[in-house]
Amino acid sequence: MLYLLCSLVAAGLAAGVVATPQPIQLTARKMPRGHIAALRKRALEPVNVPLADFFINIDLQWFGNISVGTPPQTISVVFDTGSFTLEFVSTECGAPCAGQVVFDPSKSSTFIQGNEIGELDFATGVGVDPVINNDYVLTERNGFDTVSVGGLTVKNQSLFTIINQTAPFDIDPFSGILGMGCTSSALAERLIKEGLPALFGILLTPKAVGHAELTLGGFDESKFIGPLTFAPLSAEADDQWALDSPSITVNGRTTPLLASNRSIIFDSGTSNIVFDQNTTEAMNALISPDIKPFAAEPGAYGIACDKIPELKAEIDFAFIGEGGKVFHLKIPTSELNVGPFKSDPTICQTLINTFPDLELVGGSLLKHYYSVWDIGGQRMGFAPNGKHHSLSHYTSQIVNGVRWRVGH
Ligand SMILES: *[C@@H]1O[C@H](CO)[C@@H](O)[C@H](O)[C@H]1NC(C)=O
Ligand SMILES: *[C@@H]1O[C@H](CO)[C@@H](O)[C@H](O)[C@H]1NC(C)=O
Ligand SMILES: *[C@@H]1O[C@H](CO)[C@@H](O)[C@H](O)[C@H]1NC(C)=O
Ligand SMILES: *[C@@H]1O[C@H](CO)[C@@H](O)[C@H](O)[C@H]1NC(C)=O
Ligand SMILES: *[C@@H]1O[C@H](CO)[C@@H](O)[C@H](O)[C@H]1NC(C)=O
Repeated sequence: MLYLLCSLVAAGLAAGVVATPQPIQLTARKMPRGHIAALRKRALEPVNVPLADFFINIDLQWFGNISVGTPPQTISVVFDTGSFTLEFVSTECGAPCAGQVVFDPSKSSTFIQGNEIGELDFATGVGVDPVINNDYVLTERNGFDTVSVGGLTVKNQSLFTIINQTAPFDIDPFSGILGMGCTSSALAERLIKEGLPALFGILLTPKAVGHAELTLGGFDESKFIGPLTFAPLSAEADDQWALDSPSITVNGRTTPLLASNRSIIFDSGTSNIVFDQNTTEAMNALISPDIKPFAAEPGAYGIACDKIPELKAEIDFAFIGEGGKVFHLKIPTSELNVGPFKSDPTICQTLINTFPDLELVGGSLLKHYYSVWDIGGQRMGFAPNGKHHSLSHYTSQIVNGVRWRVGH
């Protein structure tokens, strides 16, 4: 889910100051005294967190468990590279959050309630629906508590409890969002302190494949076919996980607009891809002239469902890797159809949404690769997602790869 930074500034309510993005901080669980020598000898192992798939027609979001409070309450969150804060629904949110597992601050002896209330607006939402008129808004109260992810625990973590939310969040099978933005220097510091590299690995998979996974402080070499190809974050990244792209090709063709330099954001919390209107329409035109804006949902495009099987939609993004070498990441045709529109099920929504000034790819690309998010190195790495033989046809395109390992 991509944070709309501008609205954060404007969102202060009468009750208090607006929430400032705070990087998530993690620290290793305290070891009993006798174990300190053992801890010194060997760094903590990277932590794996299994991820579940929120699936309606297509893969929408991947989420996993964290625990909050004393004694720990288990809640699930989307690990979201498009945002920076930790927030989850609490008992203070009544009816609007009734369908979700809520955190109960009154049952945590370590919870400290803050007195700031703010709103968080998103530019991309939970599913494939475009964000229309700021319809994805969370009302949040700040606070502090103990938070654990895998084996890593931090006391007095800055967080936000969600006390109200707009209706499109109602369907969430998870309780919140853990922002993994690239400026998470606190996460980086903590991992380094534990002898781990300041990075994380993500394996997103189609629902039918399962076993999606987040790895903190390392990456899981059993989940991809090496080598990893790395690319430095875009200088224009503006605190986002974004890479420089010299061109986009659709079905082997491009246009002057698509072949121009741009910086593309990688957001693990968005399922569709999102571009400005001109880029979206240039891409759609290379797939089919019959893909049209869907008037009832501004920002979404669609085509008669019975026409989709005959379409080809291989989208190839070129990126500038380390040393200036160009490499390619592809989205296969199988991602084109994201399902029928509710208001007209004869029309199927297509993969690309439009939003002003946004250039972003998400789960529909990431699930075809293993991805490494290197906070310390301010770079990203990709490798073919080796376990999915059916997808390897599409993911064998990485060229100029460099072998790179962590910790040994
Ligand atoms: C989260 O924890 C619950 C039990 O509290 C478990 O049923 C569920 O499978 C876990 N989810 C994931 C993705 O590990
Ligand atoms: C928790 O952190 C906040 C902000 O840094 C601080 O004001 C508060 O005193 C801390 N509480 C404890 C118990 O450490
Ligand atoms: C919660 O948000 C909705 C809009 O989604 C609003 O209509 C409602 O008044 C809010 N409730 C409270 C208690 O602020
Ligand atoms: C695109 O960026 C590359 C550097 O990454 C630069 O060499 C090239 O001149 C740029 N092209 C345009 C049209 O700006
Ligand atoms: C989109 O294209 C139109 C027509 O070519 C042009 O006038 C407009 O400036 C373009 N918009 C952007 C944001 O580039």
